[in-house]
Amino acid sequence: MAEQLWKGRFTKAVDSRVNDFNSSIRFDARLYREDIAGSMAHAAMLGAQGILSYEDTDAILEGLEAILADLDSGALAIDPAAEDIHTFVEQALTARIGEAGKRLHTGRSRNDQVATDLRLHLRRRTAGLKAQLEELAGVLCRLARQHAGTVMPGYTHLQRAQPVTFGHHMMAYVRMLLRDLGRFDDAVARMDAECPLGSAALAGTTYPIDRTAAARTLGFAAACANSLDGVSDRDFCIEIAAAAAVCMMHLSRLCEELVLWASWEFRFIELDDAFTTGSSIMPQKKNPDVPELVRGKSGRVFGDLIALLTVMKGLPLAYNKDMQEDKEAIFDALDTLSLCLDTLSPLLASTRVRPEAMRAAAAEGFINATDCADYLAKKGVPFRDAYRITGGLVALCIRRGETLETLPLADYRQADEAFGEDVYEAVRLDRCAEGRACTGGPCAASVHKQIDAAEAALAARARARGGR
Ligand code: ARG
Repeated sequence: MAEQLWKGRFTKAVDSRVNDFNSSIRFDARLYREDIAGSMAHAAMLGAQGILSYEDTDAILEGLEAILADLDSGALAIDPAAEDIHTFVEQALTARIGEAGKRLHTGRSRNDQVATDLRLHLRRRTAGLKAQLEELAGVLCRLARQHAGTVMPGYTHLQRAQPVTFGHHMMAYVRMLLRDLGRFDDAVARMDAECPLGSAALAGTTYPIDRTAAARTLGFAAACANSLDGVSDRDFCIEIAAAAAVCMMHLSRLCEELVLWASWEFRFIELDDAFTTGSSIMPQKKNPDVPELVRGKSGRVFGDLIALLTVMKGLPLAYNKDMQEDKEAIFDALDTLSLCLDTLSPLLASTRVRPEAMRAAAAEGFINATDCADYLAKKGVPFRDAYRITGGLVALCIRRGETLETLPLADYRQADEAFGEDVYEAVRLDRCAEGRACTGGPCAASVHKQIDAAEAALAARARARGGR
């Protein structure tokens, strides 16, 4: 069993159950890169400030670099009996370089260490997630481009309401994903603004450390302004978990629609065989398991967010062991989101869209009734009257098995004298979709504009990433 770093004060060995209960190595082992980066920045700063000798500083830096290389290559395995990743790295270093390794912890604590490591780790994780979100947005833009003019019924209350286009519908999700990206950007920018390193246990240190230098080395804008806040703050976890939760809520809505559209009741899309599953008893079944699971996993990410908020609620300053619970929650939230995005993008890219089914549904649902009322209103009939007259016509159509496109002009004119031959053009489905040309509307030209803007935003993000 590896020795605890804090063993000095104690006369008895810790009960093995307490050791197991207390240990976080199971889940914080994944912070090893960031723990080593943080330790290297700290050691370099101690050396530059003359707190450590050049020889010790060099030995520590070389030792840490070698440990990183060996962990990466698998030559060194993380000891599952270590209390946590900070203990493991420090003990591995001391085992390799002796005395100098024991000087690394000068002027710091695991409290500022873990707060720093976690920020660095989340910076890396969110960068990967953002790339995945951009990929999904790109897939949706391509679908939208192919179906900019594909008329489908738009729904309210899941009742056919007014004509939209499939491209427009896809671009609504792209808008959500762009906001999700913005939420991650904001959270990460705030997280990267301040580095907790040097807050030490809670009250800073009497050594003449240069917190700003260490912060800059690690890519932070500055050292955090208050040492108590530095070790107590987990807002960055909560904000990132919140961004993940909102994003999962968006994915769950998209997935709910995919489930509906893939059903025989809709048949608006056909999911690729490679992304569906069968039933063990019903040979005809092709189940949308992937979108259903994404929908289900949204609950789990919301749970992670609530777990983080609940862990932090009512905690006195500064570090409390409760805070060790932050890691499993935030890791699970990001792992889950990443897993969902990883499957959803290729699923959507391989989905077959069935414009003929969308059009058939659009033709049946009186979704041009508003256009009929608008036609009358444009002829001078007050909209409220136009609405009532059109309602009567819809009821007539339903009784007679007609649609607004097939209803004879005589019936129109009997309802209101203002109707003329041009009503048929007004209620033509394509015209109803194409006529909705206001900014943000569903017509093909508007959809293309939306796609251009979204793709430009995605390209700018890719450029900014490349330039960094
Ligand atoms: N494993 C701990 C955590 O994840 C590291 C900090 C421990 N600090 C302490 N004072 N026990 O929160």
